[in-house]
Amino acid sequence: MYHKITSCRACGLGKAQIPTLKQSVAAGPQSGDTSLLPVFDLGLQPLANDFVQAGEEQSGFAPLKVMLCPRCNMAQLSVVVRPDILYRHYSYVTSPSQTMRDHFQTLVDMIPLASHKPRLLEIGSNDGRFLDFLQNEKGWQVCGIDPAKNLCETAHRRGLKVYCDFFGADAAARIQEFEPEIIMARHVFCHCPDWKDFVRGLEILSPPETLICIEVPYVADLLSKGEFDTVYHEHLSYFSIKPMSHLLMETSLRLHKVVPLSIHGGALLVMLRHRDSQTSPDKSVSQYLNAEDFGHEAWRKFSTDSFRKIGALRHFVDTAVQNGKRVVGYGASAKSTVWINACGFTRNQISFITDTTPEKLYRNSPGTNIPIVDEGALLRELPDYAVCFAWNYIDEILQKEKAYLDRGGKFIVPHPDIKVLP
Ligand code: TYD
Repeated sequence: MYHKITSCRACGLGKAQIPTLKQSVAAGPQSGDTSLLPVFDLGLQPLANDFVQAGEEQSGFAPLKVMLCPRCNMAQLSVVVRPDILYRHYSYVTSPSQTMRDHFQTLVDMIPLASHKPRLLEIGSNDGRFLDFLQNEKGWQVCGIDPAKNLCETAHRRGLKVYCDFFGADAAARIQEFEPEIIMARHVFCHCPDWKDFVRGLEILSPPETLICIEVPYVADLLSKGEFDTVYHEHLSYFSIKPMSHLLMETSLRLHKVVPLSIHGGALLVMLRHRDSQTSPDKSVSQYLNAEDFGHEAWRKFSTDSFRKIGALRHFVDTAVQNGKRVVGYGASAKSTVWINACGFTRNQISFITDTTPEKLYRNSPGTNIPIVDEGALLRELPDYAVCFAWNYIDEILQKEKAYLDRGGKFIVPHPDIKVLP
């Protein structure tokens, strides 16, 4: 189901091979550690989006442990779950919201254009929403690549040219004829197990003036906001700039510019260019490199805080149930799977979870016997407490569920620190 990772995806530490002279010089004095160090460990966990019907077999459990590279500070999971298992029921589609449209425009505004109708390749083009925006509203020439067949079919129906494949050196060779001037990869890089192959693919497609834009969640946000519930098997890497500079060291690409983004609770747009590009690197690159400090101490604090929060929710729910209260969950997010399994909840504590997604209904919360039901159950059953596992939407949910609150219902919001509303 999964294989173990023993070497750093960015700088190669832990591989039998000796680092190159260039890598050794860049790394500075060695700490003496030659293997990855565990910094956050949730034990064996189910796959966060493995929603199966009662009686149907689950994909299984895999270790959920973050390892830190003592040389370049890269943080990555200790295992890679086989992609065909992980993405079997892949159902994430780009949000059609106004926030996302505004974000698309922000990205367009950030890209310096060499021509009026630039050619853009999107890696991980999902259902083609971004490409559709560029092709039909901006008049750009676009092409995409995504491994999910159902999503490619949607993109094809939108009239887009999309290859159905995982991106890497082999796929890049097939796309080469498109000759992209801009390559965009939004929220795919940290799902990718083999960064070297990914970068080889980028190199194949990048003559000197190609601009590569990689949008990724930033580990600074994960650590400072304590969002441990976004650590799950799909997220193989926890990105920062220093490991990226190590990764690119032996390649024809270099960091060009780093821009902070507000989307998805905080992300980065990392721009790369060919070493022979005429455009000089932006000062943001050295600013990020100098400021970053995501080593052992930052992760130790993150781990301690996370287990404190897990303990606080478990204590609250256990006490409520012992006092005869009924507790349910609200929102069967991937985050809910992490919380529920970290707390060890079963149906004895959380009677059910409501969710609006038709594909999740009448299935069980992964790793448990807790059923997922329609959102109307909240008013029908009037539980004493609903743990809001879609805490990122809490304001919208409080508005929407006024009738539940008016009848005495309460929401438990587990993040950033447990609170009961109203
Ligand atoms: P989402 O925030 O996309 O997070 P994740 O990436 O962790 O899965 O998931 C939110 C889930 O909550 C999704 O399954 C839909 C559900 N939901 C509701 O059931 N009701 C609501 O009012 C909202 C906003 C979300």
